[in-house]
Amino acid sequence: MKLLQSITLISLCASILLAEAPQETRTELQKTVEIGESSAKLLIDTLGKNMKEHMAKGGAMDALKYCSDEAYPLTESINKKLQQGTSIKRISVKYRNPANAPKENEAKILESFESLQALNVALPEYLVEKTAEKTYKYYKPLTINNEVCLKCHGNIATDIDLKREVSKVYPLDKAFNYKMNDFRGAIVVTIKY
Ligand code: HEC
Repeated sequence: MKLLQSITLISLCASILLAEAPQETRTELQKTVEIGESSAKLLIDTLGKNMKEHMAKGGAMDALKYCSDEAYPLTESINKKLQQGTSIKRISVKYRNPANAPKENEAKILESFESLQALNVALPEYLVEKTAEKTYKYYKPLTINNEVCLKCHGNIATDIDLKREVSKVYPLDKAFNYKMNDFRGAIVVTIKY
């Protein structure tokens, strides 16, 4: 009985301590998810809207030129719109633009998403990594979720002009031969409080 009481006491203390400390972390986590979600949505909506317009205007070649000229600078311009301490980017292990290659723990996290998917686990909407005190990374996994992605990330060897243009701009391109529902990469929003 004595033992049981002390165990109860220890766990009570532990839970009080835990309840104290994570409160702040919990609010930071909640904020990270909110900021991460809204920033990722802004990027997806902006890229998607522009891509659709170019596809409708001049087909895949026009949209490709838009992506290679604008996707990266556009991401940078969204960065300027985000609140101070927040930045956004897209990453992929099989990237097209080497500037989108994963850094630090990012590659491991992308691999984890991929392993989950290989086990038939539905991917989570997001993951949050604490990278330092008051610094978090919000990850939103991206899949090939639309047939249109395959025009530029599928078997592009069948479209000679497009393939040539891609190789010209991105000699190190790895972002092709994807299939529907393949894991493609992630949007990463870094937030410093
Ligand atoms: C018209 C061609 C085109 C289409 C369609 C397209 N992309 Fe891309 N994608 C590109 C180009 C070009 C880049 C490199 C942009 C840059 O320089 O940052 C890219 C980059 C990316 C990246 C960043 C990582 C990397 O490989 O550099 C992701 C993630 C991505 N695309 C996902 C998608 C998804 C998901 C779809 C479908 C919803 C899609 N793309 C449709 C051309 C396209």
